[in-house]
Amino acid sequence: MLKIENLSVYYGYVCALKEISLEVREGEITCLLGANGAGKSTTLQTISSLVKARSGSIEFRGVEIGGHDSAKIVDLGIIQCPEGRQLFPSLSVQDNLMIGAYKVKNRSEALENRSTVYELFPILSERRRQLAGTLSGGEQQMLAIGRALMASPSLLMLDEPSLGLAPKIAEQIFDLLEKLNKEKNLTILLVEQNANAALKISTEAYILETGSIALHGSSESLAKNDLVREKYLGA
Ligand SMILES: Nc1ncnc2c1ncn2[C@@H]1O[C@H](COP(=O)(O)OP(=O)(O)OP(=O)(O)O)[C@@H](O)[C@H]1O
Ligand SMILES: [Mg+2]
Repeated sequence: MLKIENLSVYYGYVCALKEISLEVREGEITCLLGANGAGKSTTLQTISSLVKARSGSIEFRGVEIGGHDSAKIVDLGIIQCPEGRQLFPSLSVQDNLMIGAYKVKNRSEALENRSTVYELFPILSERRRQLAGTLSGGEQQMLAIGRALMASPSLLMLDEPSLGLAPKIAEQIFDLLEKLNKEKNLTILLVEQNANAALKISTEAYILETGSIALHGSSESLAKNDLVREKYLGA
């Protein structure tokens, strides 16, 4: 579905991604792991066209999308749920959700998406009039994911959805991503530092180290890999 080849990204003279290649297959969860500063967010930002690549290609369903503007990327159904959530704190839960549907042309589709989000996250439905800035961390993360779902994504990209959450809440988020993938057939590109959980729910995994793909394989095989276990799974 998404194919990246030899993608290089620079911030000024600093190389953030050096000729990385990766593929996200339709209907699967693919995860991208790596330490702080490895280039995970840069990869998502480049796919979303918020950061421009210096070279390489990004194909979505066989069509080159590198260089498209970011609104066009959203139109294609490539939706990023950013790191740090970036909600509108002084707007209600419901308004934050409706903003996520700004590209959905048909109002009934937006309302249908909203019902699905409320079904997935009953707490958001209970709190629909509460200001987003007063939600707990876990609730804000649910709202950020809910807002991304409002845009009818065909590829959902999440940047560290478990960051800062209590283990139990993080587990709920991972269960939810698995459910979205299995029940709604949603394709997901998941950026995580929680390698354990990400490898459990994904099929394919890539490990970034200082801007290069250091390892790639099935999530099952990487979970058994000694190097991965030592460096990323604390085993
Ligand atoms: N806007 C920017 N200007 C300059 N350098 C940047 C910019 N954004 C990121 N970088 C640098 O690029 C490298 C990769 O950053 P990136 O945010 O992609 O890492 P990451 O893997 O998402 O890390 P983290 O796990 O900490 O979120 C880092 O060295 C970072 O300092
Ligand atoms: Mg990051």
